[in-house]
Amino acid sequence: MKRVLIATEKPFAAAAANQMVEILEKAGYQVQRLEKYASKAELLDAVKDVHAMIVRSDIVDREVLEAAKELKVVVRAGSGFDNLDLIACTEKDIVAMNTPGQNSNAVAELAIGMMIFMSRGQFKGVSGTELKGKTVGVYGCGNIGRRVARIAQGLGMKVVALDPCITKVSMEPYDIKVVQSVDELFSSSEFLSLHIPANDKTKKSVNFDLMSKMPKGATVINTARKEVIDEDGLKKILEERPDFKYISDIAPSNHADLDGKFELRYYSTPKKQGAETSEANVNAGVAAAEQIVAFFESGDQTYRVNR
Ligand code: 3PG
Repeated sequence: MKRVLIATEKPFAAAAANQMVEILEKAGYQVQRLEKYASKAELLDAVKDVHAMIVRSDIVDREVLEAAKELKVVVRAGSGFDNLDLIACTEKDIVAMNTPGQNSNAVAELAIGMMIFMSRGQFKGVSGTELKGKTVGVYGCGNIGRRVARIAQGLGMKVVALDPCITKVSMEPYDIKVVQSVDELFSSSEFLSLHIPANDKTKKSVNFDLMSKMPKGATVINTARKEVIDEDGLKKILEERPDFKYISDIAPSNHADLDGKFELRYYSTPKKQGAETSEANVNAGVAAAEQIVAFFESGDQTYRVNR
């Protein structure tokens, strides 16, 4: 009998977890749940004899994979998979997957909500500005970026975008202007919404020089990963430009240095909440469970992210 571990330090909504268990049990699998675990030791113990695991942002590093002797497939219920050690997965013949698109709308809605929150003085009763007619730069045009673009267009915003994987042609149906360089993206954007993954190329790439190119009164919205920001550069631009704003769904490592110092210009959520909706949890969790069943029953590797 296949054993599947659902290991979530930040648990799925009950509706999602129940549906996931139902799908996996119906396939004849045994399901184990490890939620809100406080130490890595608990995870190392839980993975010992499972054949599959589903995680969210939980770190699945080499040590975890070494401990999971029977593991054949790990599914990150979500889009970013920087928490999985893909090289170790490949070495151990473990298939790693994500569930692209399943939580995109939740993250996109949060990004738009953050733009409104910042342009309206964090709802503290001051006079703000409107989004209509402004330009939003979408950096990373995957499922989330494209959804942000679509909602922003509904608000009357202009959208410019850049993504290493898209071409001008492929974005034409979305009425999105694709710019040629990251400098052009930042210099044309009053709002800049980050949707790039954290990898060796992107880490710390959003730096002081880039942010300095943004027009007066600019806001950077980060619902991606804190690692893509050069945090010293962020501090410097907040100090040097009294018009510059930054909002993040993930507190930067230097949060204590920034918090309270730049009133109405800096904000980070106390806990990552982009994908924290029951809809996103159900979509991503159910997709993960179904992908595991499809993998074991028919060898389906559609959403494999390691080679
Ligand atoms: C993702 O990459 O899918 C999002 O960042 C959501 O992450 P979470 O499942 O940890 O909330």
